[in-house]
Amino acid sequence: MLKLNVNGESRTLTDLDGDMPLLWVLRDRLQLVGAKYGCGIGQCGACTVLLNGQPIRSCSVSVGQIGDGEIRTIEGLAESPENLHPVQEAWIEEDVAQCGYCQAGQIMTATALLEKNPTPSDADIDAAMAGNLCRCGTYLRIRSAIKRASQNPKTSASAKQEENA
Ligand code: FES
Repeated sequence: MLKLNVNGESRTLTDLDGDMPLLWVLRDRLQLVGAKYGCGIGQCGACTVLLNGQPIRSCSVSVGQIGDGEIRTIEGLAESPENLHPVQEAWIEEDVAQCGYCQAGQIMTATALLEKNPTPSDADIDAAMAGNLCRCGTYLRIRSAIKRASQNPKTSASAKQEENA
């Protein structure tokens, strides 16, 4: 038996091999299918989720390594469908997604960036997002959306909360 803290909830999993990649557990056992399988070797970022606020490649981390760490997936970002996270709002306003496959990973990495640095420069954005690949080439819209999210008062409020945590 294994317990995982996912999106603020404790989830108990039985009959689970601790070597199973976290991505499989999220998608196949917990039906959290926002994180996607792209390369499977930690190089594309489609499977990105946050572990204690840090982006990780869930395809390359075994579930047994998570311990009592806090996992956050895209399903846990919005407070409700009517009250989206500022990064999600900005993504919609900038019409970022094209095919959409990589976008959950992009949004999670952008969220982690803004929680640490609510007013990132272009260079900060490029450095933080470099590991998240987009085959449609939405990079310029991603950058605009991160800038837009950084101007949302909810972003600086959540960054302050993070600082005080
Ligand atoms: Fe995990 Fe590509 S699927 S980094």
